[in-house]
Amino acid sequence: MATERDSEMAIDVPEGTPTSLQSEAAMHHPFGWYRTQREHGPVHYDPQRNVYDVFSYTHVKEALQDSETFTRKPLSGSHSDTQTPFSYLDNAMVWSDGSKHSDAKAQLFQYFRPSMLADLETSIREITADQLHVAMDDGTKFDFVSEFAVPVPLRVIMGVVGIPQADHEQMLAWLETFREVMNTEYSDKESRDGSLMTETVEYFRTLVTRRRRDPQDDLVSRLATETELSDAEIGSNCFDFILAGQGTMSELLANALFLFDDQGLLDEQPDHDVSDILEEVLRYRSPLQSRARVTTRPVTVGETDISAGETIILWLGAANRDPARFDRPETFVPDRDPEHLAFGTGAHSCIGAPLARLQAPIVLATFLDSVTSVTIDLDAAEPKWKPSKLGFEQLPVAVTPV
Ligand code: HEM
Repeated sequence: MATERDSEMAIDVPEGTPTSLQSEAAMHHPFGWYRTQREHGPVHYDPQRNVYDVFSYTHVKEALQDSETFTRKPLSGSHSDTQTPFSYLDNAMVWSDGSKHSDAKAQLFQYFRPSMLADLETSIREITADQLHVAMDDGTKFDFVSEFAVPVPLRVIMGVVGIPQADHEQMLAWLETFREVMNTEYSDKESRDGSLMTETVEYFRTLVTRRRRDPQDDLVSRLATETELSDAEIGSNCFDFILAGQGTMSELLANALFLFDDQGLLDEQPDHDVSDILEEVLRYRSPLQSRARVTTRPVTVGETDISAGETIILWLGAANRDPARFDRPETFVPDRDPEHLAFGTGAHSCIGAPLARLQAPIVLATFLDSVTSVTIDLDAAEPKWKPSKLGFEQLPVAVTPV
């Protein structure tokens, strides 16, 4: 990690980070690199990472929608030992393809329909108000990320899944461990240490067994009693819901506050609905900037011939700013109604999008309604250093409560 606050300095970055993004400034604002790359063609081979990078909206979308040719990398990669924790987590649909994936998704999807989520509105409001109270308890200056944008979505998704409050901190630590061991996804390297995840897997194994025996009012119990999913599928998917539902939501909230400030939307009552503005936030600074795939057959993307077995990085963040798709792509237009790729598309498109779309406007509007002013200390803000992620490690704010 960076030790000085010099935006041009090289920083310690996760393996697989493209050379051009290996500075604080580029990581926080990768859009110049995307533009330059796209201007030289939609697809580039990077010999250092041994991957193909794809930057255009059309090609990213086509690849996401062709899940027979562009498959997910299984989590366990070349680990052949079926006892590794990764083999258990591999049961989550996000790591599978074909009928195994579609069968599981069809069963899981019903629990994420907007009509099924409507009941959550009240608890999201209560969690948000409570967390705001905690954040402002010892003064009106706090870190918007660690004291608000991380705990609120974490508490929401843990509540949905059915993780007891007493285990929330432990779960957060496991999520961080998982993210660390997964950093190699953006190169063709296989240096992940699955043993670090043993405790997490044991926790989910036990949780599913207990809920099967003694069902509660939560998702784990419903999946155990109402679906045909195996215990490993239930446990691994629930871990993945927490993983996928916490980080991205935190990043969206921090990116939104940063952009509201940057675009002058904090100074006056915005003319547009917060939900609409958040869609443009998702296009403009997608929390997930890229997704990895592996080719199953020789394929031509744009004019580039790619053999079977190659790693492809689909840059969602670049696609979302492609001038061939969006008018004035580098301009933030609050009422644009963008058809962005921030939630992906095709077989693996985000199952949690309805939850994100319900949750984010409530959380942000509750925060903004609770304060008469917000000042962000951008000099102390710390952007996230991950090639796949765009967010903030820290976003210090000073607020005046209503
Ligand atoms: C702003 C918030 C979110 C963003 C930007 C986001 C983004 C994405 C993207 C881009 C994908 C596609 C991945 C791929 O094609 O490889 C995805 C998939 C997924 N997301 Fe989200 N997500 C968000 C919130 C959530 C939430 C709240 C959940 C909680 C359930 C969730 C659960 C998932 C799961 C399980 C998948 C895998 C789906 C599959 O493989 O079929 N996401 N998400």
